[in-house]
Amino acid sequence: MSLAPEQPAAQMPKPPGSVGRAIITPEELRARVEAIGAEITADYQGRPPLLVGVLKGAFVFMSDLARAIDLPVEIDFMAVSSYGLSTESSGVVRIIKDLDTDVRDRHVVLVEDIVDSGLTTDYLAELLKARRPASFEMCALLVREDARTEGIRYVGFSVPADWLVGYGLDVGERYRELPSVHLFDRDDA
Ligand code: PRP
Repeated sequence: MSLAPEQPAAQMPKPPGSVGRAIITPEELRARVEAIGAEITADYQGRPPLLVGVLKGAFVFMSDLARAIDLPVEIDFMAVSSYGLSTESSGVVRIIKDLDTDVRDRHVVLVEDIVDSGLTTDYLAELLKARRPASFEMCALLVREDARTEGIRYVGFSVPADWLVGYGLDVGERYRELPSVHLFDRDDA
């Protein structure tokens, strides 16, 4: 299977750049997700978690994580968007899609694909804790090397500040389906 199948440009414009080398392989992803799933299984005995995924990027990780937890789990999703340049966080996050589930008295685990500036997780933690869950923890597959990660209980990998694609991460809505996490080589970099 080609890593980045070409599509007719009129249907799906290609972002300016190309998929670079894989920095996290499917085997490494599988092993780490299994380990986090085992940790959550041990930590949530007798109190089944509600996994809250942050769309869109978390959908692949969330899907694998839910199957790596040996407990009854429920899942729900939120979609948010942050204003301003991603490299200069404005501190403002807007909810595009809220939860369908009432989290009051639930054991909530927020699931993110990547923590970059930490703005999204900071905002969602404050928002969801105000809804009085029985407990609240965060789980991120990837965290930037310089990100604030104090509040994140389950972390998959620390990653450099490069553009990344695959395993849910996109550039211009492309490459989310790739089974590895790759560097993305921008044409203008
Ligand atoms: C990414 C990622 C997080 C957020 C992290 O989402 O999935 O939600 O950015 O950045 P932060 O730590 O600086 O707040 P993105 O806005 O790219 O949307 P997507 O998940 O739909 O790709």
